[in-house]
Amino acid sequence: MVRKSINYLIVISIIFIIPFTSYGQKFKGLALTPPMGWNSWNHFACDVNEQIIKEIADAIINSGMKDAGYIYINIDDCWHGQRDSLGFIHPDPQRFPSGMKALADYIHSKGLKLGIYSDAGWKTCGGRPGSRGHEYQDALTYASWGIDYLKYDWCYTDELNAHGAYLTMGDALVSAGRPVVFSLCEWGNNKPWEWGKDIGHLWRTTGDIYNCFDCVIDHGTWKSWGVLQILDMQEGLRVHAGPDHWNDPDMMEVGNGMPVNEDRAHFSMWCMLAAPLIAGNDVRKMTKETVEILTNSEVIAVDQDSMGIQGFKYQTIDSLEVWVKPLVKNQLAVCFLNRGKTPREISYDWSKHVIKDDFSGMTYDFNQKEYRIRNLWLKKETGTTRKPLKSTIGGHDVLMLRLTPVK
Ligand code: GLA
Repeated sequence: MVRKSINYLIVISIIFIIPFTSYGQKFKGLALTPPMGWNSWNHFACDVNEQIIKEIADAIINSGMKDAGYIYINIDDCWHGQRDSLGFIHPDPQRFPSGMKALADYIHSKGLKLGIYSDAGWKTCGGRPGSRGHEYQDALTYASWGIDYLKYDWCYTDELNAHGAYLTMGDALVSAGRPVVFSLCEWGNNKPWEWGKDIGHLWRTTGDIYNCFDCVIDHGTWKSWGVLQILDMQEGLRVHAGPDHWNDPDMMEVGNGMPVNEDRAHFSMWCMLAAPLIAGNDVRKMTKETVEILTNSEVIAVDQDSMGIQGFKYQTIDSLEVWVKPLVKNQLAVCFLNRGKTPREISYDWSKHVIKDDFSGMTYDFNQKEYRIRNLWLKKETGTTRKPLKSTIGGHDVLMLRLTPVK
């Protein structure tokens, strides 16, 4: 009898307790569409403080970005002060004199969410204290401050195993109990798309972006990459992404100095990739053109489509690429990307194309079905797929369309 009860208890524990105590969990459902927000690094680098973060939050609201969906205000590297004698981390008292809890309260009072940054190694990339050996303690601290998003970097990790290190922090966040979007910033070195899905909501696929359309910056031991270089590195990765687990081609450089055509192409391609849309510019001082790009709701809707299918390169015609992204209700986005510097005329005969996507299982046969075409930057209907599409696409620019089946 006693033995039977013990066996019974063991079975009950296996069924009910172990699934809730095992590693590899995350807060589910926090990123059913790619996260949208802002991050300090691309514009401010280490020069962050609470005043800037508050002003950014205000500007996100006043510019219409919050209404467009940008919710997370993420502080990147260099917010840190020292650890105290018990190992608890504190913000830099000069830069964040009111403390993180007060800042989170301010951000939350505006209907926004606050993100923070740490590193799996001894130190962050900016040389501040990393979380190694303090993971559970840091996760508790972030929860007590009211943090909603953690970007977790990969500097000073020596021989650490990436999967294991991210699992530890993921588990620490879950144990701390406050729902947090977990952003794995491991630069794609250890193929996080193969193991990140159950740990985090997004993972960087590459090294850092650089504010240029087509360039590579060599820093000696590492490189940073232009928009086209990062785009090319996404090849083959779309099968790993979907609702609640996204490939992250890095934060955006829109509004940081590229010409408007390049910013438009950059933003369009990030939306075709179903990329997290994390703005990286000084949103307190934006040109009208930058606001128009970042808040174009029809282009954002391509990124935020609820099917969560990352787009793919359908065709390359020398420097012209045709990208396709399946959308809900048998619709699709088609984006013509002119990688060249000079304008290009196109005449695109839809009737010559049957677009078949094995990953989503979608087929678009333009002989079988006619589609209405909407130009997402001009915000205008431009005929149907019955006639060839004629257009001129500027250098380093796009023609971005949404196609809807004609009933
Ligand atoms: C790494 C990351 C960047 C940024 C910096 C901060 O380079 O990839 O996105 O967070 O560290 O030091």
